[in-house]
Amino acid sequence: MTQNDMASYYARFDAMAEQLGGRRALQSLLQVGPSALSNYRNRGHIPADKLQRLQSEAKMRGLLLHPDTLELSNHKAPVILLIITGGVAAYKALELARRLGDAGAIVRGVMTKSAQQFITPLALSALTGEKTYTELFDLTDEQEMGHIRLAREAELVLVAPATANFIAKMAQGMADDLASTLCLASTAPIAIAPAMNPAMWAHPATQANLSILAARGVHQIGPDAGDTACGEIGTGRLTAPDEIARTVMKLITPADKPLSGQHIIVTSGPTFEPIDPVRFIGNHSSGQQGHAIARACAALGAQVTLVSGPVSVPDPEDVKIVHIQTAQEMLAAVEAALPATGFIGCAAVADWRPAQFADSKMKKQSHSHIPALELVENPDILAHIAHHKNRPNLVVGFAAETENVAAYASEKRRRKGCDWILANPVHQERGTVFGASMNDIIYITETDNESWGPLTKTDIADRLALKIAAFFTNA
Ligand code: C5P
Repeated sequence: MTQNDMASYYARFDAMAEQLGGRRALQSLLQVGPSALSNYRNRGHIPADKLQRLQSEAKMRGLLLHPDTLELSNHKAPVILLIITGGVAAYKALELARRLGDAGAIVRGVMTKSAQQFITPLALSALTGEKTYTELFDLTDEQEMGHIRLAREAELVLVAPATANFIAKMAQGMADDLASTLCLASTAPIAIAPAMNPAMWAHPATQANLSILAARGVHQIGPDAGDTACGEIGTGRLTAPDEIARTVMKLITPADKPLSGQHIIVTSGPTFEPIDPVRFIGNHSSGQQGHAIARACAALGAQVTLVSGPVSVPDPEDVKIVHIQTAQEMLAAVEAALPATGFIGCAAVADWRPAQFADSKMKKQSHSHIPALELVENPDILAHIAHHKNRPNLVVGFAAETENVAAYASEKRRRKGCDWILANPVHQERGTVFGASMNDIIYITETDNESWGPLTKTDIADRLALKIAAFFTNA
């Protein structure tokens, strides 16, 4: 590392230490003295096992620690305490853990004794990447994380499957094992997904217990009617894991962060297609609109990757930015950022690029020799992503048009295969679209057609972000 690199490593190390509770807290966490900690800092290297400890501490705080840069991303992943109780449906909890992980949650598993008759803690840990907790009086667990901390750090406690016996214990406030103790110690919202034999479900004792839990604000998900695991038909079947995961993620999404858990890729700015080392084909796109959209989505809680051509507007905060020059680089950067739940193609991508790139500057020769520029077509990034095997759930494009705006844009929406098109009428005289801070938009979907504006590009971005949030909330 150069001296500059070292200085920035020290700064990042110190910032990380600060965010994880200060140097003393780190020493006790890593069980090392002050000199060992200083060595890690001064040598620019943290031993792998200590780094892992730091990463799990960061995760406990809902942060992600980048192992190379030591940067802590403030994109908080919610922690869900998944309590699995013993029923035949317990094996479906593995699928549920996977779905919750896919939705962006950190899943910390807890299993009762009888759940371990059906699945092993090891199988659950393999899916969650976290330790699975089983014993109340396990000293190692107490040293690593006491049961109170385990209960308190969860954003939500999910009991799935919840047996009739466990529901009864919860209703009585019993605390005779780790799982029931956690339910009592937690102040977080609790959701239960019951699964049991239809007769047990229908029994007045079970129904009375459920009423007690409902009165205490416990959320109930299912059960469904159909074939139950014990072979009888009726109500008592565990709700499908993806349905449970969806409901739970909605429960923990704060009202002001409706896009949390979504990954949205935004393209912005122009592309520059080089002719020779000093010349290029480009356009006047300023990046204002795309950057504002990236910012607006991040403000609503989305994880945003912004792929931007050369612009003079500053990089927005709280988004991952990838700087590119050409359309081909933009496409590669977008593909590398997949999977995503949303794609917003706002960049003014050059339709063509020079067929050849001259390695050295093309010299001006006599007036009679004017070089011809042969062009080839660039990839259409929007159409490509709209037809991708990993297509995001929502694909949005822009269309700058000078005439028949709505009709041309609707046709473009269909042709490119995107879900929505935001059409800008280009008014030379009003100075909207390129480089201007105002924009007017016709928002076009398969069924809707709304006029927005003229509004500032920031207002357009906020309106679009809310539409995107509504799309995912109703999905
Ligand atoms: O076809 P046209 O360039 O008008 O389409 C505009 C929309 O398509 C914009 O959303 C733009 O970002 C996107 N686009 C693209 N790749 C291209 C050309 C346009 O993604 N090569």
